[in-house]
Amino acid sequence: MDQSMFELFGGDGQISDLIDQFYYKVLFDQSLRGMFLKADMTRVRLQQKTFFAQMFGCVHTKYTGKDLVEVHKNLSITDQQFDRFLHHLKCILADMNKPQELIDQILKKVDSHRHVIVFK
Ligand code: HEM
Repeated sequence: MDQSMFELFGGDGQISDLIDQFYYKVLFDQSLRGMFLKADMTRVRLQQKTFFAQMFGCVHTKYTGKDLVEVHKNLSITDQQFDRFLHHLKCILADMNKPQELIDQILKKVDSHRHVIVFK
């Protein structure tokens, strides 16, 4: 059987590193940080780790966080902000030395959620 994106990526430990480094960058981005000022970042990081694990195809992980539409619908997130989000993700993935093919696959997967995040 083909390896899942989760296995190719290196499992939970690598996802944990990705999300931690990712939100560190996001919180330094002037165009994004304001949205997270009231958020419980420990919770966001934790939920995002399970969301990513499930999205990458981990069979043992079930996302139990809030509904993505409910969480994002009142934030008026723009396409430009979503693109910044993807840009940071792409940079971290490159820093982690992941293969380009895998990076493209991940960015495409995340981008497939744009319609439930962007409401402007
Ligand atoms: C510009 C892009 C984005 C911004 C500005 C953003 C912003 C936020 C904020 C402010 C929260 C915390 C909400 C709260 O605690 O009430 C949050 C939570 C979350 N976001 Fe996003 N988000 C973005 C994109 C995404 C994407 C692309 C995904 C998934 C593919 C995602 C998944 C999540 C998850 C799983 C949570 C945690 C939900 C929970 O606490 O149960 N977000 N986001």
